[in-house]
Amino acid sequence: RVDALGGGDQTLVMGPTRQDLLGGGLGLTTPVWGFGVRRRHGGGLSSAGPAPVSYPGPTLVAHRDRPVRVHWINGLPHRHLLPVDTTIHWAFAHTGHTIERDGVPAVVHLHGGHTEPDSDGHPDAWYTPGGAVGPRFDGTRFHYDNSQEAATLWYHDHTLGITRLNVYAGLAGFYLLRDPHELSLIEHHRLPSGPYELELVIQDRMFHPDGRLAYPDVPADSPDWPGGPSVQPEFFGQVILVNGKAWPYLDVEPRQYRLRLLNGSNSRFYRLSAGGRWPFPVTLIGTELGFLHRPHPLDGPLVLAPGERVDLVVDFRGLEGQAHTLTNDAPTPFPDGDPVAPPADQVMRFRVNRARDERVPEPRLPRTLRRGPFRIPRPPARTRRLLLFEGTDEFGRMKPLLGTVERGALEWSDPVTEDPGLHTAEVWEIFNTTPDTHPIHLHLVRFQVLDRAPFTADQDPRTGALSNIAVGQPQQPDATERGPKDTVPAPPGQVTRIKALFDRRGLYVWHCHILEHEDHEMMRNYRIR
Ligand code: C2O
Ligand code: CU
Repeated sequence: RVDALGGGDQTLVMGPTRQDLLGGGLGLTTPVWGFGVRRRHGGGLSSAGPAPVSYPGPTLVAHRDRPVRVHWINGLPHRHLLPVDTTIHWAFAHTGHTIERDGVPAVVHLHGGHTEPDSDGHPDAWYTPGGAVGPRFDGTRFHYDNSQEAATLWYHDHTLGITRLNVYAGLAGFYLLRDPHELSLIEHHRLPSGPYELELVIQDRMFHPDGRLAYPDVPADSPDWPGGPSVQPEFFGQVILVNGKAWPYLDVEPRQYRLRLLNGSNSRFYRLSAGGRWPFPVTLIGTELGFLHRPHPLDGPLVLAPGERVDLVVDFRGLEGQAHTLTNDAPTPFPDGDPVAPPADQVMRFRVNRARDERVPEPRLPRTLRRGPFRIPRPPARTRRLLLFEGTDEFGRMKPLLGTVERGALEWSDPVTEDPGLHTAEVWEIFNTTPDTHPIHLHLVRFQVLDRAPFTADQDPRTGALSNIAVGQPQQPDATERGPKDTVPAPPGQVTRIKALFDRRGLYVWHCHILEHEDHEMMRNYRIR
């Protein structure tokens, strides 16, 4: 399950494989892409050891302040599994490259990593199996110094304009970062560990009858459309996969488990519970990038937006012989779209049918998990007012955009507008003028969610710029959002305020983590000066 990555060099190969995702004795295997570890010591020529590829990729475990170098080898084919829209701003646009000749472009981003800019997997740092490279390519060996506290990270492809397809094909995996504090909690049986600590990635997919992955292959509804498949405003699949298995069972002992959940879906939000409630205790202990101050018992459903992770302790004690289904009732799109349609209202099933191993002591959660509530204490050097806007592209398609309140919507190719000074804190106020919630992710930093407030404003319908803004009563973030975060849902009609300390120089990106949005312009560079 976990490939130790205890420091030093590692080689991971991206490549194709086939897996039985659908199960149920259908006997169908699905071509997917994944990652395989190739062990290699020293700096010699690459050994040709086999690297069995899996989707999701292997879980990498790293340790605080123990640097790791990963050689990410692009071994993808010269044909995509899925329909590629070549009209949007994507890796090969205006380059003359083709997937048939150069192979599929890829570049891996460690989501949540406090990573140097050259190793961050910038969307323009892609490379192909054939050696074609993007304008910000800086090598295929990435350095992670792991200079951050214990956290639930994940790695995934981040190539410009094709991330949604590469991730959908399978290019994602967990990266767990440990630190001495967490290890001492584990050692003193304050947290479940070993076989009782599991990471689960939830993803929705569609399938062709022969088992192949399906993704919309439809033209844009435009008189000027040149032909070929068009990017969609969102993607919602009816088959829910957990760790690459459709609606799986997890057989558990009647004891406490630590579960890290990741929403690795392209567009789908999940509102998780077991039939609208929690018939067993579920305690939130951490957000994306670290522990909460105190364990927080959940008293209602848990919303997980694309890109978000939670760290949970689930208590199955006293449930011998029972089975409980993890359910989802999040509308698509979130929060005011269509009610979830079966079968996407079911995620997985816990079966409490294993004999309890009495040799393993039952963990006892500590009362506090970090010294105090997570805060960015430094006063902000600046407050920025940022914009989420639905624009239109040259084919009349909805084009989701980021921008600033003052200037309006901006595109990927527009010059940087967010340029925090090194070691300064900033407050970013995200004004969402669209009808949907967008999960906003900043690279490099962990942030504090300060609050949200409704607002009204006059909006220039062409640029999206806002004037006469009136902000209502701010609401404290939910108790489930009070840990260190890297992705925050920004609901429609509200301003979501976050605060971060920008502590590494260089070029990074911030974007919506709905992958169909990120690929169609809802992403911007930012630079720390
Ligand atoms: Cu998970 Cu910039 O991405
Ligand atoms: Cu979005």
